[in-house]
Amino acid sequence: MSTDGVNVDRRRLLIGATAAVGAVGVAGVAVPFVKSWNPSAKAKAAGAPVFADISAIEPGQRAVFEWRGKPVWVVRRTPEMLKTLTTHDGKLADPASEVESQQPTYAQNATRSIKPEYLVLTGICTHLGCSPLFRPEIAAADLGSDWVGGFFCPCHGSRFDLAGRVYNGVPAPTNLVVPPYRYESDSVIVIGEDTV
Ligand code: FES
Repeated sequence: MSTDGVNVDRRRLLIGATAAVGAVGVAGVAVPFVKSWNPSAKAKAAGAPVFADISAIEPGQRAVFEWRGKPVWVVRRTPEMLKTLTTHDGKLADPASEVESQQPTYAQNATRSIKPEYLVLTGICTHLGCSPLFRPEIAAADLGSDWVGGFFCPCHGSRFDLAGRVYNGVPAPTNLVVPPYRYESDSVIVIGEDTV
């Protein structure tokens, strides 16, 4: 899959209209690095918001953007993926996202998102800062028959579900962080700016 050529005119418009436009790539099955419009180094240092075009993300895929030097994931969750979120609250350390530092209040809900379909997370493990792997496959052979899809940190084995909620009994103490974000339109989110 490639996003090249998709909505090019609109992207050009966004580039012209904004100081910071970033889209690093779409990661998923056999999806290569796609496109990059990063903010300038100065804008990055200042933590400028990043306009992320999410229109090319297929259901079930994850795209990776960059904000403040960190990876920010956008996962387009399928209805099946969303259903898995209701199956394992008892195995989670903070199923209701009660640790306030880990998400804005508008993402303090059952899907940890503004729109359930799109999960937005900072892709940094809350243990010691590795970047967990996106492992959406159910019952992956190396993760066990009860694996319902999520994120697995290869450094010390922390596990997170498809809302970035951490499982009990792993080194990571808290859920993955949901950064501030808002929808500019149905297909563009602004990472680094709060929803008003
Ligand atoms: S850094 Fe992820 S488990 Fe340690």
